[in-house]
Amino acid sequence: MSNDYQLLKESLAQIEPVYDKVTGYFYARLFVENPHLRSMFPLTMDLQRDRLFRALVHVVQAVDQPEQVVPMLQQLARDHRKFQVEPAHYDAVGRALIGAIRQYSYGEWSDEIEAAWWRTYSVAARTMIDAAAAADHTPAFWNAEVVSVDRRAHDIAVIHVQPNQPYPYEPGQYASVECIHVPRVWRQYSMANAPRRDGQLEFHVRTLGAGWVSGALVRRTTVGEIIKLGPPMGTMVLDRESQRDLLFVAGGTGLAPMKALIDDLRRWNTTRTAHLFFGVRKATDLYDLDAMRQLADRYPWLTVVPAVSEDFDYPGERASLPAVLGRHGPWYSHDVFASGSPDMIRATVAKLRELQVPAERIKFDAFGEPDRLKPS
Ligand SMILES: Cc1cc2nc3c(=O)[nH]c(=O)nc-3n(C[C@H](O)[C@H](O)[C@H](O)COP(=O)(O)OP(=O)(O)OC[C@H]3O[C@@H](n4cnc5c(N)ncnc54)[C@H](O)[C@@H]3O)c2cc1C
Ligand code: HEM
Repeated sequence: MSNDYQLLKESLAQIEPVYDKVTGYFYARLFVENPHLRSMFPLTMDLQRDRLFRALVHVVQAVDQPEQVVPMLQQLARDHRKFQVEPAHYDAVGRALIGAIRQYSYGEWSDEIEAAWWRTYSVAARTMIDAAAAADHTPAFWNAEVVSVDRRAHDIAVIHVQPNQPYPYEPGQYASVECIHVPRVWRQYSMANAPRRDGQLEFHVRTLGAGWVSGALVRRTTVGEIIKLGPPMGTMVLDRESQRDLLFVAGGTGLAPMKALIDDLRRWNTTRTAHLFFGVRKATDLYDLDAMRQLADRYPWLTVVPAVSEDFDYPGERASLPAVLGRHGPWYSHDVFASGSPDMIRATVAKLRELQVPAERIKFDAFGEPDRLKPS
């Protein structure tokens, strides 16, 4: 496998400069050879933001770290059941993928490279096919009725939904969501509560300009509508065995998974202190601060610190989250959770590392596109 890894790394380096063309060719070939697959994909394909192709590249890049890749593929496979992916489709995707890479590798292609690609892709496909089969007894997706839409700002809504059957998940996880206004387009949103007896889920959605799904959820969704939820995903969950104190860092609606984790702690924690830093640009973006303050009033182990970076009249912490974190602490013996935009996550993780927090103690979810995956 290590020889394959080297070959594939070199092969990826070849196509890196023409990555967008490879992605375009991949889909063109997939749909020309398999027109019946087109209806599984969104009406408008935004190749710049393509995730399927990126994921395939990521699998190859991390193929020598199966302990990371296998759980990721298993989650993806469970999630792919909502697209009605069947085992036979994997061969079609593999053919289009490897065909696209060959097309743009110009002279640098050989039977050996092709065989290495097929070996690696087949292992990934087999892992996904098996994981999907093992999840056969669970729903491919859940229907959930919107029970409330609370618009907290022009661009932020807190939405409660009632799934039609139990939705088992861990606090800190997220679900992919499809709404009736934008069919076949799924985006991830984090549950903002720990599992409740009545099964209701809370989501915090912030719309980004012309964002397809966030715009529809914030501006158009009404009570009684049905949204679809994919199975729970994500690994940003609490280690209940750990004795360490906790640091939660939330940027904007990155508060959602932090609130779920704190909601969970509320049920069993007595010994670990927890600090929540809730960072936004404008004070009006502190859309759920009252709820968090009420929790802090009730639970002495919880401290909530709002931070506003662009409102010079704000009476509290006026700085970006990394700067505010640097003023508090120390954090090097805490378990840390962070959630928010990719920029906020990048800056926060860099600051925490500077503050001597070991990388393995920082769990995070970035709410957007990671940097283009480059062969390293
Ligand atoms: C693990 C995970 C959990 C998430 N949880 C939440 C959550 O709880 N609440 C929440 O509000 N969002 C969350 N998100 C983000 C969410 O999934 C969507 O990416 C977001 O709502 C934009 O989707 P859209 O369809 O509205 O925008 P799109 O139609 O995908 O994008 C519209 C435009 O906005 C740009 N854009 C997209 N994302 C960003 C960004 N982050 N910053 C700046 N510009 C951007 C695009 O380039 C495009 O031009 C999460 C994302 C991930 C990966
Ligand atoms: C090893 C094989 C595969 C990997 C690693 C993979 C990975 C991914 C990833 C990461 C996403 C994005 C998910 C998200 O953002 O929520 C995705 C989307 C998708 N995948 Fe796969 N996938 C594989 C095989 C397949 C197959 C065989 C099909 C069937 C045709 C398929 C159909 C889809 C569809 C329809 C989407 C949604 C695309 C979109 O929204 O733009 N995938 N895949």
